[in-house]
Amino acid sequence: MTSSALLPNILQAVIRGQKKAMSDAYYPGFHLAPVTGLLNDPNGFIDFAGRYHLFYQWNPLGCKHQHKCWGHWSSDDLVHWQHEPIALMPDEEYDRSGCYSGSAVDDNGVLTLIYTGNVKFDDGSRTAWQCLAIQNEAGGFDKSGPVIALPAGYTGHVRDPKVWQYGNEWYMVLGAQNSQEEGKVLLLRSADLHDWHNLGEIAGSGLNALGDAGYMWECPDMFTLDDTTFLIFCPQGITREKHRFLNTHSSAWVAGELDYDAARYVHGAVNELDAGFEFYAPQTTLSADGRRLLVGWMGVPDGEEMRQPTIAHGWIHQMTCVRELVTQEGRLLQRPVKELQSLRGEEFHFKGRAVEAPVIGAQRLEILLVAQGGITLNFADTLHLEWHDQGLRLARRSLESGEWQYRYWRGAVSQLQILCDHSSVEIFINEGEGVMSSRYFPAKTAQLTLMGDAEVQARYWSLQHTVIE
Ligand code: FRU
Repeated sequence: MTSSALLPNILQAVIRGQKKAMSDAYYPGFHLAPVTGLLNDPNGFIDFAGRYHLFYQWNPLGCKHQHKCWGHWSSDDLVHWQHEPIALMPDEEYDRSGCYSGSAVDDNGVLTLIYTGNVKFDDGSRTAWQCLAIQNEAGGFDKSGPVIALPAGYTGHVRDPKVWQYGNEWYMVLGAQNSQEEGKVLLLRSADLHDWHNLGEIAGSGLNALGDAGYMWECPDMFTLDDTTFLIFCPQGITREKHRFLNTHSSAWVAGELDYDAARYVHGAVNELDAGFEFYAPQTTLSADGRRLLVGWMGVPDGEEMRQPTIAHGWIHQMTCVRELVTQEGRLLQRPVKELQSLRGEEFHFKGRAVEAPVIGAQRLEILLVAQGGITLNFADTLHLEWHDQGLRLARRSLESGEWQYRYWRGAVSQLQILCDHSSVEIFINEGEGVMSSRYFPAKTAQLTLMGDAEVQARYWSLQHTVIE
């Protein structure tokens, strides 16, 4: 086993930082978050040998986007998680500026990671290697080094390999930026995970009837559900619309058909995956029982993230809950996994005019609301959800300027399922037709007040606190 020069500092940071993070009232009660430092993308999500594994982009040494390692958790129920040995640290020439995002596969019983080795140069340029690492008997990972160099015609922004098996071959989608600074997704094929053939671009700016759809597409993921092949990706530089794509960077999905032999993907319109203030870089996996599961980063890069108050406690960002993806009439729906119901305490009910509902503790809360609009949900005077005939408007103040900011979901809403944690909400609309995920930092103990004269029916539960063991 080789050891990284970063290890003593990481150990010190964790010993010193964990207590400080855990004592923060904003530290989540049932969502995954870093014990210290910065977390971003979920990586290597897999159901392997009867256990779920979730890796994550982690800077244990501070709250900036530096020193990216792969942290590692595992779980047998997607609700209770345990810490595993750090999987990857940026300690080789080919990954010295960060072990960036990637995925995990079961290679004949061996848990294998495929990740991006990011290398930045002093002149501001960069290159990227797609690399392999194989689990050892101690539960850590041995790096086997780069297997894909930068393809010709692309900038140093080629990253985030997502690998899956189809037939007897391995396939990979890679996020990329071409030399004309257009965002693309590449498809690659391999028989052995080592020797890869680039089959070319299957989606991106200027392809499949898309015009300019951004200068970089990150974190692609591709999977088939009910005969439709979905591509999830994170376009950077996609045009902001009145009600969509309002975050600095967005997560999107398209539905289509992949011809593996011709390496051709034909897809339809671009849809936003989550309409909240914080959601990015999601990753999916197939569970042993056949469900397509998704987890996302409840954060967005390059926006106001560095204003978040948790930085004073030495940590920043959390994951979304784990969601199950289902399709309905060609659309992709997201629902909290059923396992989360095990966190529910006693069930409460309310039926009547919204204003007459009791004030509900929203520290850790799940609430199911049925109504036809005409109400507002006030979360601790910090976050407001307005429910109209035409849809939803989520409002909160900018952490930078104090100005009100808004996010929207358009369409008739009949039902909401909301999961609240100490500093986050996830709003599932019409049984998963839409989702709005957002962080919020209430000045007082979180509570939910319903406002408006409309009739509502509510069922709600306080949710148990979990700790990562
Ligand atoms: C997305 C991303 C990825 C990259 C990783 C680095 O948030 O920029 O493209 O691999 O984060 O932490």
